[in-house]
Amino acid sequence: MEKYYHILTYGCQMNIHESEKIAGMLRTLGYRDTQNISNADIIVFNTCCIRDTAETKIIGNIGEIKRYKKKNNDLIVAVVGCMSQQKGAAENLREKFPFINIILGTDNLHELPQHIIQLEQDNKKYIKSVSLDPSAPISEEVPSYRTSGTNAWVNIMYGCDNFCTYCIVPYVRGRERSRAPMLILDEVKMLLDQGYKEITLLGQNVDSYSYENYDFAYILSQCAKIDGKFRLRFMTSHPKDFNTKIIDIIRSSDNICNNIHLPVQSGSNRILQLMNRKYTREYYLKLIDEIKTLPNVGITSDIMVGFPTETDQDFADTLDLVKAVRYSSAFTFVYSPRKGTTAAKMKQLPAEIKKERIQELVKLQNSITAQVSKEYLGTTQQVLVEDTNPRYENSVCGRTDSGRLVTFSGDKSLIGKFVDVKINKTRVASLFGEINV
Ligand code: 5AD
Ligand code: SF4
Repeated sequence: MEKYYHILTYGCQMNIHESEKIAGMLRTLGYRDTQNISNADIIVFNTCCIRDTAETKIIGNIGEIKRYKKKNNDLIVAVVGCMSQQKGAAENLREKFPFINIILGTDNLHELPQHIIQLEQDNKKYIKSVSLDPSAPISEEVPSYRTSGTNAWVNIMYGCDNFCTYCIVPYVRGRERSRAPMLILDEVKMLLDQGYKEITLLGQNVDSYSYENYDFAYILSQCAKIDGKFRLRFMTSHPKDFNTKIIDIIRSSDNICNNIHLPVQSGSNRILQLMNRKYTREYYLKLIDEIKTLPNVGITSDIMVGFPTETDQDFADTLDLVKAVRYSSAFTFVYSPRKGTTAAKMKQLPAEIKKERIQELVKLQNSITAQVSKEYLGTTQQVLVEDTNPRYENSVCGRTDSGRLVTFSGDKSLIGKFVDVKINKTRVASLFGEINV
């Protein structure tokens, strides 16, 4: 009889790729994917706890599973990832939802198959496996089942040592651990052989990659040198570590996209210091000037409002920086206190102020995004076609080298191909055009 899994993924690219690993493991046990949750024999919650909005959503979604468990006694419910790794979280989750069968920490994911085999025999069992060793060795023997189309994600490192004062990641993902260069290069080569056209190198802070004497510049340049036409992207960079050497490698390689995600978080030096970001706005803006020497570069960012003690002036500094940089687009967040972090112990701002500030920031960034989009009008962009665009009839979409999404007429035979598209219309962040023949 067929057995099915359904995975719910929350959070960042790192988590999306981890869900591909979960799928890979479940498939080795004979499970297949189902989009219909009521058909599932295993439901996996791959969680995120970076902001309270994600956590609240996950708690709500786990609660809804109770009715499926009532209908199907054999159902296995697993909760894995960042949230289970938080201090006391596994106990709280299990108390709240006694139907959970298995809770795994971020460094225990590779144990999933062995626990599932046990649960298949007796699903009354409850298994908790959360490693408390923040430097646990990387487990390499996990197969990925990739569903990301033309792009494939490749981890180059795990964990984070930066301890930005607002961030829970270093607590739940442990210390920085880099993968061996040969393993990364072999994986990238294998994926290109399989036909992937775009590789995104992943790490919480890719610039601090370090394995023996090898640094991120080495990994990037070696990956870029692999034979064939493909695109290389990477994320996330930290302004304190991103440097001229990396910019020069990007400049000298056609394969590396001119698209840099460089989270600034705040434009105020006082707040940057309280955040423990280890750079100033002046340093950041200088770096941006250097990045802007790359042709047609798309620069994106993460920006936060409402960090404890943020004044009107601090916020004005953020708006001012956003105007100076003119990001292609940005992820904007309202600060939310995370238990155990330094900033959570500081005096918090009222919700009303945070709300006003996020609205103003989003409005400003949207207007900049729309202006930047207009600069593409009349230009011809090389686009890697990713998918059909179901919102428009007979249309496909893909990204420019700078990371912008473009929609144009075409059919699915174009997926995975590089085509030249002339941009003739824009709508905020979206570009539209016509294929050049
Ligand atoms: N509150 C709001 N946003 C946060 N981020 C990280 N921690 C928090 C928090 N406590 C944001 C940062 C980071 C992105 C991944 O999430 O901007 O770059
Ligand atoms: Fe969190 Fe800072 Fe590490 Fe990014 S660099 S994961 S924001 S601690």
